[in-house]
This record gives sequence, C-alpha cells and structure tokens, in this order.
Amino acid sequence: MWQGGPGYRAVSRRDSRSLAGYKHACHVLLYAAEPGRLFGRIPVRQALLMQMRFDGKIGFPGGFVDPRDGSLEEGLNRELSEELGCEPNGLRITEGDYASSHATEALPQKVVAHFYTKRISLDELRKVELSAVQAKDHGREVMGIIRVPLYTLRDGFGGLPAFLTNTFIGNAREQLIDALRSLHLLSEAELQAAISASRDG
Ligand code: IMP
Repeated sequence: MWQGGPGYRAVSRRDSRSLAGYKHACHVLLYAAEPGRLFGRIPVRQALLMQMRFDGKIGFPGGFVDPRDGSLEEGLNRELSEELGCEPNGLRITEGDYASSHATEALPQKVVAHFYTKRISLDELRKVELSAVQAKDHGREVMGIIRVPLYTLRDGFGGLPAFLTNTFIGNAREQLIDALRSLHLLSEAELQAAISASRDG
C-alpha cells in the first residue's frame, strides 16, 4: 500500500478515528472487467470509473462523511446516491471493500481520505454510468463520470500516460496508481512505464 508522499501519510482506519480536528472523506473506485477492444485491436481490459469534478479536477465518487452520523460506509453510500444515484441499483459499499486511509494537513483543512475499491459486473457498471446523469449532483458537483484508459497507444503517451497528466484532487492520482498495483490490473512494468511516460509527456 502507498505509504504516503508529499503532504500525505498512511494511517490505519482505527487510528484515524482518534485523530483530533480531522474531517473524514471516503471515495471509491468502481471497476469491472471489460472484454472490448479499442479500434478492434487494443484490449480495453478494465472499465474504471472516476469523475470530472466541479473544479475541473479528476477524482473518485464520494465525499466528506461525518463519522458521528454512522459508519464511514453509511456516509459513503449516502454520498454515492447523490453523485451516482446508484442506491436504487443496489450498489452498496461495505467494510469489506475498504482499501486504505491517508491523512493530510494540507490547507485548507486536515483531512483523512479513506479509499475503497469494488469490483462489479460490466452490466452493473453501465447501470451506474446511466444513473449518474440522472443523479442530484450531475451538472453541479459532478460534471460527468469518466472511464480511465488503461492501455498505452503506439506513440507511447496516448492512453494512461496522458490521463495521468490531468490535475487530480487530493491524493486521487496516488489512490488510482495504488489500486492499479494492488488489484493487479496492470503489471508493475506497465505501470512504471506509464508513470514515467506521463512525466516525459
Ligand atoms: P470535496 O469533494 O471537494 O468536498 O472534497 C472533500 C475532501 O475530499 C477534500 O479534502 C478533497 O481534497 C478530498 N477528495 C475529493 N475527492 C477525492 C478523491 O477522489 N480522492 C481523495 N481525496 C479526495
């Protein structure tokens, strides 16, 4: 697991509850195996959902939760129903989907970012995409749900490397890279190549 980087440190879920003065945010990576091929030849491999936010940055679905209002997962599911409108589709994040927590003291506020990953079927993922455009936050806090390209095109930059040059909110870029690694969605060599190509741009 990512141990933290500039401004972020890994914390355990339990320890994070006793940190004074921190707000808690929960986000989730929903993903599904995708057997399709781009242009009939490039394997798409996985469909991973992120979203274009109101501030032009890319992040995962989720948001602030107040641990005094119930479990982290209850708070996350509430946020998801506003952003994705997905509870009617029966999508519920549970403690079993928990991946990591990272604390930051970066301004404007101290935050613990909890992260979850959940594999769903491609049918379920398509339903989430469809219901997202009907959700309360669509066109306001969320400008649109997007899929992350996992392949790298022949020019060595198009695809995941170009995607990684976007501006991400908080530690969302690290959460994405960590998930690609820990869920074995890309090999370490593919991941490192995409990260370094994104820097050379
Ligand atoms: P808001 O969505 O702008 O209200 O952000 C709530 C908090 O969660 C802020 O501290 C953001 O930096 C953080 N945040 C928002 N989206 C993500 C994400 O996808 N991953 C990690 N942190 C995020």
